[in-house]
Amino acid sequence: MRMKLHIFIAVSALTAGLIAYVLISFFTTQISSNSYTIVVGDEVLLPLPSKITKLTVEEAILLRKSIREWRREPITIVQLSMLLWASQGLVEDAGFGWYRRSAPSAGATYPLEVYVVVGNRSVKVDGEFLKAGVYKYDYMRHSIKLVKEGDVRVDLWRASLRQDWVRDAPVTIVLCAVYERTTGRYGERGIRYVHMELGHVGQNIYLVATALDLGTVAIGAFYDEEVAKIISSARNERPLYLFPVGVPEEPHKTTFEELGKLYERLRGSS
Ligand SMILES: Cc1cc2nc3c(=O)[nH]c(=O)nc-3n(C[C@H](O)[C@H](O)[C@H](O)COP(=O)(O)O)c2cc1C
Repeated sequence: MRMKLHIFIAVSALTAGLIAYVLISFFTTQISSNSYTIVVGDEVLLPLPSKITKLTVEEAILLRKSIREWRREPITIVQLSMLLWASQGLVEDAGFGWYRRSAPSAGATYPLEVYVVVGNRSVKVDGEFLKAGVYKYDYMRHSIKLVKEGDVRVDLWRASLRQDWVRDAPVTIVLCAVYERTTGRYGERGIRYVHMELGHVGQNIYLVATALDLGTVAIGAFYDEEVAKIISSARNERPLYLFPVGVPEEPHKTTFEELGKLYERLRGSS
């Protein structure tokens, strides 16, 4: 009897150990790998940022253009991951609890918060689609958390003066500012610092979208309160800038040779 009990305990311990090992190795390999997406409840751990484009920065600057017509195609979770990382992702542990981010910030006060509106069948994840809804970006975990379920693109289109490119884009990134983080240190002058920072982030989104063969357009014309309601942002998070992103209907093409000819023509005529 005692022998049987010992065998039972040993087998149970072994099984439990085996299950724990399989679970731990499953999650750690997925988390440490670049290309995996892990959905845990309402949180989506995004594929880790990596070098995935071939364009040089000068080519991205040359090819950047505001795009307002999209193919009816989804973007991928890897592309969304890179866009969010470019907007506010981490680039370095600078020590003393300070993590530097992808864009400069006055006094490292980091006033910006990033939301993303995802439409139905709009973001491809491993052969399926990300649940439609409004997500908030967590820059420390490089994840997005669902704050509101459902496709709200038509609401966003109405709130942005019916600009069709907002309704038709698979995703729209919404940049919000918590002014107090910066004005708390710099007073009134902090307001202009927040807007400067917003411009840095906007250009990052434009350039990374271009390098990923996607298109975007900066949207400043919208009703602030309505957008805040649609994305369920906190009272002190003021929506300032929208960036609908999609696959361009017409990819913009040009070369430095063409640009050279333009300058030659302008120099010749002056
Ligand atoms: C602050 C700001 C607000 C803008 N708001 C809108 C907008 O509401 N709707 C829109 O279609 N484009 C908007 N744009 C995009 C501009 O129209 C566009 O950048 C400009 O025509 C130059 O074209 P390009 O970006 O292709 O070089 C905005 C741009 C900026 C910088």
